[in-house]
Amino acid sequence: MQYIDQINEAADFLRPSFSQPIDLAIILGSGLGPLADQIKAPKIIPYKDIPHFPTSTIAGHAGCLYLGTLGNKTILAMKGRVHYYEGYDMKEVTFPIRVFSKLNIQKLIVTNACGGIRDDLKPGDLAYLTDHFSLFCPSPLRGPNLDEFGPRFCDMSEVYDHEMIKVALDASKTTGITIKPSVYAYFKGPRFETPADIHAYRVMGADTVGMSTVPEAIVARHCDMNVLGLSLITNKAAGLSDQKLSHQEVQEMADLASKKFVTLVTEIIKNL
Ligand code: HPA
Repeated sequence: MQYIDQINEAADFLRPSFSQPIDLAIILGSGLGPLADQIKAPKIIPYKDIPHFPTSTIAGHAGCLYLGTLGNKTILAMKGRVHYYEGYDMKEVTFPIRVFSKLNIQKLIVTNACGGIRDDLKPGDLAYLTDHFSLFCPSPLRGPNLDEFGPRFCDMSEVYDHEMIKVALDASKTTGITIKPSVYAYFKGPRFETPADIHAYRVMGADTVGMSTVPEAIVARHCDMNVLGLSLITNKAAGLSDQKLSHQEVQEMADLASKKFVTLVTEIIKNL
C-alpha cells in the first residue's frame, strides 16, 4: 500500500472520534507524559489500534493518543513517540504528523528531553527552540514529494513559529517558570554522544542535543503547520560534567522537573 493511502486510512479511522475541530496537537516527550492526565474526559486511543501507526518500543514512552480539552482548547496529545533509533525509518517516525495534517490540525507543539551544551543550560531547565540542526538527521522528506502537503523544496528559514514563541514567553512570565532560547541539535542515537561530538556541536552553534523532535518539526513545516518546540534539559551533554550519561538519569530528571514543565505547557496551550 502507498504511504499516502496509509495516511488516509489512519486519518479516516480517527476522524469519527472528533466531534469538533482540534486546536492543536502536542507530542509529549519525557517529563511531559503527566500532562495527558490533565486532559478532561479524554478519549484514549492506543496507537496499536490505529491503522499503520508506529508503536514505541522504549520504556517510558507509552503509546496512546489522548483527545480532549485542556483549558479552553480541544487538543490531541501523543503520549509516547517513536524514534529513528528504534529501527523505524523517518517516514514511519513522522507518520503521525501527516495524519494530524490530514485532520486539519494547524498547530503542533513538539517536546523533548535533551542534553544541555550551552553553559547556562542545566539539568532541570526548560528551553524553547529558536532553530535546530538537521545536518545529521536523515531527511524525512526523501523520496517522491507528497505534493498535497507541501512543495518539493520546503523552506526551513522559520521552523519554530514566532507567534507561538511569544505565547510561550508570556506563559513563562505568568507562571514565573523560566524558559531560555536554544538551538537544538539532532543526534541519531541510540547512544549518547562522545565529548568530541559535543565539542563539534558547540563550535557549530548548538545549545542542546537530543534524539527526537527535528524529523517531526521538518514534516510539520512541510505540511505548513505552525510549530513550537520545547525542551527539558535533563543532563549536561557528554564531557561537560564528571558524570557518565544514562537513560535512567534522563528519566529521573524528567520526572523531577515534570511538574513545572506541565504547568508551563498547560498555560501555553490555554493562550495559543
Ligand atoms: N544526548 C542525546 N539525547 C538526550 C540527552 C543527551 O545528552 N539527554 C536526553 N536526551
